[in-house]
Parts: sequence; C-alpha cells; structure tokens
Amino acid sequence: MRKKIVAGNWKMNLDYNEGLSLFSEITNMVKDEITGHQEAVVCSPFIHLHSLVQLAKGYNKVSIGAQNAHQAESGAYTGEISAKMIKSVGAEYVILGHSERRQYFGETNQLLAQKVDTALKNGLKPIFCIGETLDERDGARHFEVIQTQLQEGIFHLDAESFAQLVIAYEPVWAIGTGKTASAEQAQEIHAHIRSEIAAKYDQATADSMTILYGGSCTPKNAPELFAQPDIDGGLIGGASLKSRDFVDIVKVFN
Ligand code: PGA
Repeated sequence: MRKKIVAGNWKMNLDYNEGLSLFSEITNMVKDEITGHQEAVVCSPFIHLHSLVQLAKGYNKVSIGAQNAHQAESGAYTGEISAKMIKSVGAEYVILGHSERRQYFGETNQLLAQKVDTALKNGLKPIFCIGETLDERDGARHFEVIQTQLQEGIFHLDAESFAQLVIAYEPVWAIGTGKTASAEQAQEIHAHIRSEIAAKYDQATADSMTILYGGSCTPKNAPELFAQPDIDGGLIGGASLKSRDFVDIVKVFN
C-alpha cells in the first residue's frame, strides 16, 4: 500500500517564534492520532528546520522538510543552502520545482533535474512539483506540459532513485487563489501521471508512488479530493498556517 502524506508548505511566512508555536500547536493536536500508512510533513523556512526536527522527535509520523535546495554540493554561492546542510539538521524532505520557484526564480526543468540529483545524493526525499498554468489548461496543453515536466525533471532517474520521490500535482491556477481543481480534474491528471510512470518504469513503481494534490486545499474540499483513487494526500499552503485546518486535513485519512 502506498504512503499517504499531508505536507504543509509554510512558504515565506512565520518568524522563528511564530513557526515554533504553530508547530507545537500542530503536534499537540495531532498527538498519536496519525494512524496507519500515513505521514504529516511540515516544510518550513530554513531557519526553523533544526528546531522543528527536535520538536518532532516524539512523533514518529511527523517529518520535516525544506522548500528548496541548491543544485551544487557546496561552494561560492552566497546566500544559498545545500542539500547536505538540510540533511545535517535532520530534515527528511525538500520541495523542489514549486511553481513559485519556477515563476519567480526562473527554475527550469533542466535545473530541477540537477537539484533532484543532488537532493537524492544527500539522502533527502524530493517532493517534486508539477502543474500547468491557466493559459496552458485553457489551450488544452496540460497533459503535454505535465509530460515534459516529468520527462525533463525526473524521468532520468533509475527506478531505485525514482522510488524515493513524492510527486505533487499543483495546477498553478489553483495555488493561493481559492480555486481548487475539481476532484474529477485532479483525479484525471493523477491517473495520467501514474500511467506515465508505469510506461517509463513499471506498474509496481507507478502503484507505489505517492502523488499529492496541491492548490487551495482546505478541510472542506480535502475529503472529496483524497477519496479519489490516485490522490494520495495534499501539499497545503495557506491552510497549513492554521493549526486547526492543517490537522483537520491530516486527519482526513484517519
Ligand atoms: P495553497 O498553496 O494551498 O495556498 O493554494 C499550495 C502550494 O503552493 O503548495
């Protein structure tokens, strides 16, 4: 059975103390109530990572991740953070290819392929984001865009490395807009992603891949989205900044 994951993406929100208190609220509410084959992940800004890893120690189904990592191992890249540094504080995951990184920081599939390699080499599990813009969907190019993102970003990996990934489908038009993809729209793309994986690798690899939905996911719409056969959880932005909402989404799988 594949793992179900609800991952919070705090983006560039919360100062150090605010982040720690939100995380404590989350762990207090979650307690040991995460059951079965599932995990909650909090992807915080870099400054919180070390402390959150310490605070998460009593909760074996709560993990911590970063939101970006540099493609190089180390070197003269002022202001950047390496995968090795992230791993060294005990974080397990790293979001790569978020549409905000693609849009505002010019991250291409080619660059992301390098970031994925470096993250994996350093023992981090990438949460690799893909998704089409509104223009691309309106032009009926969404399948093609997703195929290219998979092809150029992660399909160079061998099957063993590929199995370390989590994929997040995040239609750009649904991120932070309050517009969610319908459960049918999301399921259609998730099934397509899984069939592309089966064609590239094999059915067993496709069946065990955790594929998250992201984009204005809330406690209200999560139950219907997560009930779809190919949706294995969510990547949650806005709603992950409210402990009650985030925990309610985590508990959809209970
Ligand atoms: P949102 O963000 O839930 O605020 O739409 C999702 C994301 O960007 O990961």
